[in-house]
Amino acid sequence: MLPYQEIEKQLSAAVLSLVPDATDETIKVRPCPNPKFGDYQSNVIMPIAKKRSMNPRQLATDVVAAIDVDSICEPVEIAGPGFLNFRLKPAALIQTLQAVAEDKLTFHCESENPQTIVIDFSSPNVAKPMHVGHIRSTILGESLKRVFRLQGHKVVGDNHIGDWGTQFGKLLVGWKTLLDRDALKADPIGEMERLYKTINDKCGEDEATLTEARQELVKLQDGDDENLSIWKEMIALSQDQFDTIYGRLDISFDETLGESFYNDRLKSVVEELQSKGLVRESQGAQVAFFDDIPELKEHPALVQKSDGAANYTTTDLATLDHRLETWNPDRIIYVTDARQQLHFRQLFTLFGRKTPDAKARLEHVWFGAILGDDGKPFKTREGDTIKLAELLDEAEEKGRDVCKAKNPDMSDAEVAEIGRVIGIGSVKYADLMQNRQSDYKFSWDKMLSLQGNTAPYLLYAYTRTRAMFRKAESQGIDASSRPESLKALEHAQELALAKHLCNFNVILDLASEECRPNYICDYLFELAGLISQFYENCPVLKSEGDQRAARLTLTHLASEVLKQGLTLLGLETTEQM
Ligand code: ARG
Repeated sequence: MLPYQEIEKQLSAAVLSLVPDATDETIKVRPCPNPKFGDYQSNVIMPIAKKRSMNPRQLATDVVAAIDVDSICEPVEIAGPGFLNFRLKPAALIQTLQAVAEDKLTFHCESENPQTIVIDFSSPNVAKPMHVGHIRSTILGESLKRVFRLQGHKVVGDNHIGDWGTQFGKLLVGWKTLLDRDALKADPIGEMERLYKTINDKCGEDEATLTEARQELVKLQDGDDENLSIWKEMIALSQDQFDTIYGRLDISFDETLGESFYNDRLKSVVEELQSKGLVRESQGAQVAFFDDIPELKEHPALVQKSDGAANYTTTDLATLDHRLETWNPDRIIYVTDARQQLHFRQLFTLFGRKTPDAKARLEHVWFGAILGDDGKPFKTREGDTIKLAELLDEAEEKGRDVCKAKNPDMSDAEVAEIGRVIGIGSVKYADLMQNRQSDYKFSWDKMLSLQGNTAPYLLYAYTRTRAMFRKAESQGIDASSRPESLKALEHAQELALAKHLCNFNVILDLASEECRPNYICDYLFELAGLISQFYENCPVLKSEGDQRAARLTLTHLASEVLKQGLTLLGLETTEQM
């Protein structure tokens, strides 16, 4: 058990011995915001006392008398109205590190109640380029998937591809009348985009094209062979493009089911809603009203249009049924931009009415926009949307520049590989380190800087730990991890680093509970800072004997947590840069 977990356990026991009915209270211990007061703090006493009209100070005093943490903590202190402050004994800290170094414990913990979690992320649309807006969903979803999986949850990453909808009517007209096969071969998405744009513009001008598009759509929906095969070709071409991007970003899914997969179920979803009295007819359409919910009152949800066609909401309801049947999940998380908040509020409400005893907790994990320098949505100079593939090319190029500036003599092959890690990592990190609900300005200079909370800074911190081991080896020093030597740790900077390592799991829990990988970024930034202060204050290779072994072992532990954290964010690491 990690020290904070041991304190939590003892605190719970002490509280329950004094307040036996406090079984429902979550008793948490958190790292102290200010180390002056201690290493850990708990503020549970106040709410527990308040609820029972007890004197919080008195309850705190009694809890301190009852709690059994002498073996790992200095005497517990009470602050303010009843905060409890805990300070770890160095010996307990060292024991924890030893256990980790001996592989008997890890700084991250498996969840006590492993869940099945479906994450719906990335979900781009067929025949359209993946644009920067999809990048946030892709990067965020992948990171959440990795965090949950490390915690022992069963995770299903599901790419809900937009492969159905009215746009296919126009695409089919374009394909049949304007397709340039050579252009399609050279740049499939570009050509499909051209077809769509041309026909879409034409539809605005003349009624006949619009009718034609509608007819092609109906034929597709009715299973016309020719239209189906064109549609399938468009999907395959798009999937190729998506896969290339996913490969470059190291993203993977456990399931990829397009919206069209659910077509057979849409009718019965509407029927179920009708039979349960959850929708009613309005101007020929089937509509769900939410009169009792103030924020949705003005926003009824359409589930069937007057022409009989189902829509995005219907498909999402059918998708929910399928996911429940297939995986029986505890959580389903949708990662999309902020603009879909209303959709998901309607969806979750309607689903709750339709299937009231479903156990799955539904969450919309939404994010803000990526902005350009001018504070407007990120676009090219010509005002076009930025294509992801081109953005990644540029990232790699800039990553190579960072690498070259630091290592003028490095071979081109090495520069290319390290540049790729830096460039792609920078784009991912710049996205993940934000509070996901804020918009942020895309800035190459900021994200590629070697200073501050950036990928290059953290990747560099990691390479420094690796360089230390290489240097030790070249000097004939045994740099392997030696758990028993850790007893020699005593310097404040060593202990501060050691404590931070013991808090990795607190952050993982917070990040997975709130679906906010930026907590991990902040943790790693602090970790890198502590590593560098440790180097500055505690010479490693110039020290000797057990002290040197202890410092090398501590460096090993820190280096591993840093790497693990970066991996959770989807970043690759490199041995030097
Ligand atoms: N394809 C949609 C878009 O690009 C996102 C789909 C999100 N997932 C869902 N189940 N609705 O906007």
